[in-house]
Amino acid sequence: MFYTIVGTQWGDEGKGKIVDWLASKADYVARFQGGNNAGHTIKVDENVYKLNLLPSGIIRNKKCLIGNGVVLDPWALINEISNLRNQNIKINKDNLFIAENVCLIMPIHKLVDEINELSRGNNIIGTTKKGIGPAYEDKVGRRAIRLCDLNDHKSLKNKIKNLYEFHEPRLKNFNKNANFKKAYEDLVKISSEIINFSSPVWKIINEAGKQNKFILFEGAQGSLLDIDFGTYPYVTSSNTSSGQIFSGTGFGIKENHNVLGITKAYTTRVGSGPFVTEQDNEIGDHFVEKGQEFGTVTKRKRRCGWFDCVLVSQSIAINGITDVVLTKLDVLDDIEEIKVCIGYEANEKIYNHLPFDENLHEKLVPIYETMPGWQKSTFGMTSWNDLPKKAQDYINFLESKIEKNISIISTGPDRIHTIDRNNLLSNN
Ligand code: GDP
Ligand code: IMO
Ligand code: MG
Repeated sequence: MFYTIVGTQWGDEGKGKIVDWLASKADYVARFQGGNNAGHTIKVDENVYKLNLLPSGIIRNKKCLIGNGVVLDPWALINEISNLRNQNIKINKDNLFIAENVCLIMPIHKLVDEINELSRGNNIIGTTKKGIGPAYEDKVGRRAIRLCDLNDHKSLKNKIKNLYEFHEPRLKNFNKNANFKKAYEDLVKISSEIINFSSPVWKIINEAGKQNKFILFEGAQGSLLDIDFGTYPYVTSSNTSSGQIFSGTGFGIKENHNVLGITKAYTTRVGSGPFVTEQDNEIGDHFVEKGQEFGTVTKRKRRCGWFDCVLVSQSIAINGITDVVLTKLDVLDDIEEIKVCIGYEANEKIYNHLPFDENLHEKLVPIYETMPGWQKSTFGMTSWNDLPKKAQDYINFLESKIEKNISIISTGPDRIHTIDRNNLLSNN
């Protein structure tokens, strides 16, 4: 059984929670893109785990794979491993496998990330400043340092020197310095620890596939941050959509693949870029407060707005989503009237998709339908029948608009706060 989990909005939909929930059945959990720009939160009773690079399956001691599509900051990895071990999570050669050909985020990438943002003036993207974009640029530019390069320190030194020399002129223009020798020495110091996890992930995952193991592919970010299909240029630098699982791990196309689209019951976004249903008012403030909408990685307040069927429908198509998972339903509990965007209007034209033309984005006016709120607590509910009738109506209305089953509903941060409408867990 193969499941891919992707976010259908701008990230932070609750992917970590759902991966952890489903991972009770999984044999393998694999990351296939992004890096430590991701922040996935898992709550188990009183324990809260924050994951950036490690697949969320590590909490349940599943076999975890970091595919070649990820960009990996080795220092961030060591830090994360150490934090999780302090929370009694086991991480060793038997449950963590990192692709030999994964590209590394070097300290210089964070500097370049900063410079790139500075040079955009008013049009900053609001990146996480983790060096993600610059690391992907160097990968495509064929000068990246890969995990397998740590095997030979002599050639590693040359590669790092070349990489740093490439960036030097631009750094100088911004009065920034990067010392390649220090980067090399610091990397050598931790290399044995990291190389320990180095594995042919493409081989492991295809063998698991052949044996029909339960494999979970854990997406990071969301489809609207996809480098191709997102709100470019206000996106991340990887393909965040399900198609990336193949080139991001080496898994060959197979049958029996389900794609779960993790979707918040409203919409949030961190960083700049268009957001047609944004509520920069007391409704937005309510979402921030009740939903605790602060970034896991950068602690920034998330921008909040109403559910947007146009965008979610687009993500459903692009990812081949088989079922939608609706999260944070409980955050809507107190609201009197809930709005849902079902289309846009601009220049006397109706749009049922988001055109790519940036200039049009600011002109789009949302077309809303209004649903009555239920004004009762749904927090922690685990059964569909317990949900207030108006909450059921809201979910049924969304289903009719996005034309996809909402099979799982999350009503709280803990793994047990989950409604499994079609018994997906027990049927697998
Ligand atoms: P991810 O990046 O998609 O994994 O999502 P994040 O972990 O960044 O953000 C989701 C936040 O909402 C986390 O703090 C979760 O613990 C929390 N969360 C997840 N599902 C629910 C839910 O159904 N209700 C509430 N109230 N919180 C949730
Ligand atoms: P998870 O996996 C929300 C956003 C950043 C910025 C843009 C580009 O937790 O859902 P980057 O550092 O990737 O170059 O920044 O993408 N961004 C996220 N927003 N959740 C995330 O991950 C994100 N990862 C990146 O805020 O707007
Ligand atoms: Mg997150």
